[in-house]
Amino acid sequence: MPAQPLTSEPRQTAADQAGNDLAEATTDASLERTRRRSEEIEAQIAADPTGFRVLTGDRPTGNLHLGHYFGSLLNRVRLQDAGVETMVLVADYQVITDRDGVGPIRERVLSLVADYLAVGIDPDRSTIFTHSAVPALNQLMLPFLSVVTDAELRRNPTVKSEMEATGDRPMSGLMLTYPVHQAADILFCKANLVPVGKDQLPHLEQARVVARRFDERYGRVGDAPVFPRPEALLSEAASVLGTDGQKMSKSRGNAIELGMDADTTARLLKRAVTDADRHITYDPVGRPEVSNLVQLTALAGGRDPHDVAREIGDGGGAALKRAATEAVNEMLAPVRARRAELVADEGHLLAVLRAGNERARAVADATLDEVRAAMQMVY
Ligand code: TRP
Repeated sequence: MPAQPLTSEPRQTAADQAGNDLAEATTDASLERTRRRSEEIEAQIAADPTGFRVLTGDRPTGNLHLGHYFGSLLNRVRLQDAGVETMVLVADYQVITDRDGVGPIRERVLSLVADYLAVGIDPDRSTIFTHSAVPALNQLMLPFLSVVTDAELRRNPTVKSEMEATGDRPMSGLMLTYPVHQAADILFCKANLVPVGKDQLPHLEQARVVARRFDERYGRVGDAPVFPRPEALLSEAASVLGTDGQKMSKSRGNAIELGMDADTTARLLKRAVTDADRHITYDPVGRPEVSNLVQLTALAGGRDPHDVAREIGDGGGAALKRAATEAVNEMLAPVRARRAELVADEGHLLAVLRAGNERARAVADATLDEVRAAMQMVY
């Protein structure tokens, strides 16, 4: 396919098209399609995992907690153990989309690596790496930014809510363009699979749009497009709420961190919000706080939440909290023991990260070579 001139996609059409694609990503029908497709992909992984490369990651903004554990970490370990090649990004450049400097970033990056290793991400099989150590990944931002419009970025749900929340404080250019940076995260290693929750689907759609437009505008090397169009692997993981019944997050003080000790966990759960009815039931819609504790107990113990609720019965909130504490502490004991050893050995954490960064750099350099060839910029 010949390279396309810059004007091949009229501005208006490009933006409109993106609006359609991106809005499309969140309709019920499209969600249903993505769900069905995810089931197909799971079946393909079970039959032969070698056709897939997964990219996932986190911003190093604090210690990982049970929300991350049940929401994404277990799933990553499952995919890795199923034989899918997995790249795990410590998204350090994404931290600087915030306006408040980098904070204790080095410590947080190492703590995140410790969390990963403690839960079973195996650096011999998965590549753990940081943005800042992979120049060629970041260089992809330039050609990628050339194929998106500012209007479609402003329509991205996360960017939009950030713009609305900003008030008087201006939003950085990096915040505006971070969906494109995420596209580079996914595409630099030609990941074809990204495990996401449904709120992340617009980001993935942005990466698909970038891959397609790069192909249309800049062309190919050989027959195949330089970038595959990555697919979502929609996670149906139950979302675990914090001890106050709100979304679990460090800043709300409602999070049970993987690295917390057993006593702190007990104290947090003792303060958890319940309700006035002593009879414990599992009813996530009618009794969200109580049901969250029931579900936490069930997930931690590998049990059915209805059984957990039945067993506690008229024992009330106190018995429920005791059961939750016991189940969580028991489940996390080996993770915490491993984590403590890892944190004590900074040299090992750095060695893991350096090896991962080196692998990621090799992958990124190879991709950038293809990008240069497609763009006729090989000198
Ligand atoms: N935004 C993700 C988070 O907040 C981290 C991340 C950065 C990511 N780039 C990504 C996730 C690409 C998936 C794909 O944790």
